Amino acid sequence: MIGVVVPLNAIFSLHAVFVKKKMGKALWWCLVFTCLLVPLAGAAADWNILKLQTHDGLKISLKNYCESWRMNVELHNIREFQVVPEECIEYIGKYVTSTQYKVDSQRATDECLVYLSTSCNLKKDGLDAWIFDIDDTLLSTVPYYKNNQYGGRKLNVTSLEEWMKKGNAPALDHSLKLYNELKSRGVQILLVTSRKEHLRSVTVDNLVKVGYYGWTKIVFRDPANELASVQKYKSDARKQITNEGYRIWGILGDQYSSIEGIPSPKRAFKLPNPMYYVA
Ligand SMILES: *[C@@H]1O[C@H](CO)[C@@H](O)[C@H](O)[C@H]1NC(C)=O
Ligand SMILES: [Mg+2]
Repeated sequence: MIGVVVPLNAIFSLHAVFVKKKMGKALWWCLVFTCLLVPLAGAAADWNILKLQTHDGLKISLKNYCESWRMNVELHNIREFQVVPEECIEYIGKYVTSTQYKVDSQRATDECLVYLSTSCNLKKDGLDAWIFDIDDTLLSTVPYYKNNQYGGRKLNVTSLEEWMKKGNAPALDHSLKLYNELKSRGVQILLVTSRKEHLRSVTVDNLVKVGYYGWTKIVFRDPANELASVQKYKSDARKQITNEGYRIWGILGDQYSSIEGIPSPKRAFKLPNPMYYVA
């Protein structure tokens, strides 16, 4: 879209100069003509840019465009997006239901195990700890977003929570494997979720139903601090955990707000999630 705006602006400023110099009748007509053409040209060029080329003329497919959008979400270059761009809804839907999404996620949890085996000198005193986020880390919300344009529609908290209350969120298999592996190595499992207190019992039931149990601590969001950002809430929870003496060896989450901020863990691992952004 940027590519369209620049040349049109250039035409406009060119006209402005002419009009100032000499308000000729022909030039007036020319200006009117340009004004009439702008909306048409804009619409046509938008279509071109989004479907066929970048602003410097590189021919690309819509898949190139959307894959690059997704990659830059994961790189944390694109932030605070409210919805998945309309033209990428189909692509994102395909991705989060694909083998690639599973492989990407599994690679993340495999790297957690590599780190655990090579770089963690566990003390085994009951204070070695690992933090997990819940949504799209342990439990998948893809079935909910499947009915909500894979993030292409603005979040409706009421309907999302209604879905959560059904307690039918499936496990992310690779996360369950990591969870069990950590448990068997004597690492304390701490769950820190931005789900609110009123969802505690349905969430616990849902977790147990799909195979997660034996955690040491589960922290829900107090309605009293709902105005603070999720990132602040989660780093405050870590502060509390650290004060209790735990060594946080790692965090697994799908949002930067689950892993950023002080105190930081020794390592943080991020799962892919192009459907929504939580600040
Ligand atoms: C949000 O979801 C609720 C429950 O499904 C629904 O009643 C409400 O109309 C929705 N709000 C909007 C703005 O779509
Ligand atoms: Mg999450």
